[in-house]
Amino acid sequence: MLEKIQETAAFLKARITTHPETAIILGTGLGSLAQEITQKHEIAYSEIPNFPISTVEGHKGKLIFGKLGDKDILAMQGRFHYYEGYSMKEVTFPIRVMRELGIKNLFVSNAAGATNPDYEIGDLMLITDHINFFPEHPLRGKNIDYGPRFPDMSEAYSKEFIGKALEIAQRKNITLRQGVYIGTQGPTFETPAEYRMFRILGADAVGMSTVPEVIVANHCGIKVLGISVITDLGVEGKIVEVSHEEVQKAADAAQPRMTTIMKELVNEI
Ligand code: HPA
Repeated sequence: MLEKIQETAAFLKARITTHPETAIILGTGLGSLAQEITQKHEIAYSEIPNFPISTVEGHKGKLIFGKLGDKDILAMQGRFHYYEGYSMKEVTFPIRVMRELGIKNLFVSNAAGATNPDYEIGDLMLITDHINFFPEHPLRGKNIDYGPRFPDMSEAYSKEFIGKALEIAQRKNITLRQGVYIGTQGPTFETPAEYRMFRILGADAVGMSTVPEVIVANHCGIKVLGISVITDLGVEGKIVEVSHEEVQKAADAAQPRMTTIMKELVNEI
């Protein structure tokens, strides 16, 4: 496992000239942040040794090295979801490669269904904490020496980044919710009873990604900021049929706000 990670990192290091400390995972419908990156050097997942290949419609699989403002960054366009059939080791492989590349900060975006009755479609939610509802833990198995066997998760989402994101949002007149994201395997959206259960468990929004990557990032000592776009409402009385297309449409509408926050934040850290 470690050799594969190092082999992949060595392959990438040989091809890039930048030294990014911040990586961004571009989630559903948030790919337009990629257009803001300058001096791009793109590497398709299919060219990268040991990298899985992403299969979901709307996710283009490539790493983008370049600049966002004046900062070197690494963006992942297309992520690996557990529901696609990848193992947890595959889903989180890129995070470990990032660690080998010297990444210190990780920004993640995703689409999520609201379980908090105050939320509306198109809202942005700063993830303050998460609940791991995946059936398999990404750190199960032999511990890799990037971090301890029993990692602390008391601040899975950096309080410093949360504070900065809130300041930026205020300055830019963007409304940001703050809430708990519950990560579940999918690929079904939830039944009304499941949305209710997740609300009772303490979640404000539910989605099918992010949690595995965030756990591994924490294990690697990478600081995390996460933002969800609320694309549908899992709230009694407001539940309607959901489709992937509608999720993407709602995520697209939130794109400019998300991009602003991420861009500003990258340049402040
Ligand atoms: N549930 C799970 N994942 C999601 C949802 C949802 O309602 N919306 C977008 N991703």
